[in-house]
Amino acid sequence: MSSTDDWVNALQARAERALEKTLPPANNPPKRLHEAMRYAVLGGGKRLRPLLTYSAGIALGVSEAVLDAPASAVELIHAYSLVHDDLPSMDNDSLRRGHPTCHKAFGETTALLAGDALQALAFRTLAEPTSAIPAKNQINMLELLAEAAGSRGMAGGQAIDLDSVGVQLTLSEMETMHRLKTGALIRASVLLGAWCHPEITQDTLENLDRFAQCIGLAFQIQDDVLDVESDTATLGKPQGSDKAQDKPTYPSLLGLTQAKARAQSLLEDARQTLRAIDAPTEHLEWLADFIVKRRH
Ligand code: IPE
Ligand code: IPE
Ligand code: MG
Ligand code: MG
Ligand code: MG
Repeated sequence: MSSTDDWVNALQARAERALEKTLPPANNPPKRLHEAMRYAVLGGGKRLRPLLTYSAGIALGVSEAVLDAPASAVELIHAYSLVHDDLPSMDNDSLRRGHPTCHKAFGETTALLAGDALQALAFRTLAEPTSAIPAKNQINMLELLAEAAGSRGMAGGQAIDLDSVGVQLTLSEMETMHRLKTGALIRASVLLGAWCHPEITQDTLENLDRFAQCIGLAFQIQDDVLDVESDTATLGKPQGSDKAQDKPTYPSLLGLTQAKARAQSLLEDARQTLRAIDAPTEHLEWLADFIVKRRH
């Protein structure tokens, strides 16, 4: 991200501080588990999901302080999903965010438990009593994150991903897999920010939902494209991992040119949807753009 985008840097730093405060201190027992949790979350990653939560909420007039908890919660789920995704029984990858993967640094058992504990911490964080968000909204938020992380969301998408190794999926099957494994949590990131507004309207929720679904799918398409086009140093994770494992991806099904065109057309749809929202959505538009143009 360019250094001129001060608001991005400021919100990334804010997310970092919120996560740091939410995670158990490393010197609290069980130390090794807490160290692994902190290792998996802190000091790396684009923080795209928290940025989406903050940007959606701020656009609707919610204060940054109220958004800290949901922004941290989505990143905790994301970090847990990465720890498990990298395990030998899943993608078997050794590098993540430029460092050895959690199981390489701490062993498989601790990595497995760190993922479990991060998921629990995410819900604990979102359930923290607050007078700023009506209880009814907070319950909706817990339900939203649970759906996004579970078998009808990320975990379900990961199950399809693992079942699909070496399998030729149809475009529609691939889209379903991507919408679940990655899109669901990105959708939740945006909608959690919106639900922090005590009087959020159905209309705004629906428009943000459409926006989030477009960028969620575009995000995974670009992730697949970068697996082909980028390099390990830039990515901070092993380039070519999908191909090495014969994973079904957008470029493997459609070719790079068409995969990129699909991401671009989703970006156009996302932009269009934002125009229907009566709020300053420039930051959401910037993030949508970043999702498709990013190189890592
Ligand atoms: C990578 O997500 C995993 C996918 C869902 C494709 P990110 O590209 O957002 O990873 P970090 O958080 O920046 O490391
Ligand atoms: C992972 O998709 C999606 C998750 C739920 C973590 P990938 O397996 O493509 O993610 P990377 O490329 O390892 O980051
Ligand atoms: Mg994977
Ligand atoms: Mg992976
Ligand atoms: Mg990938």
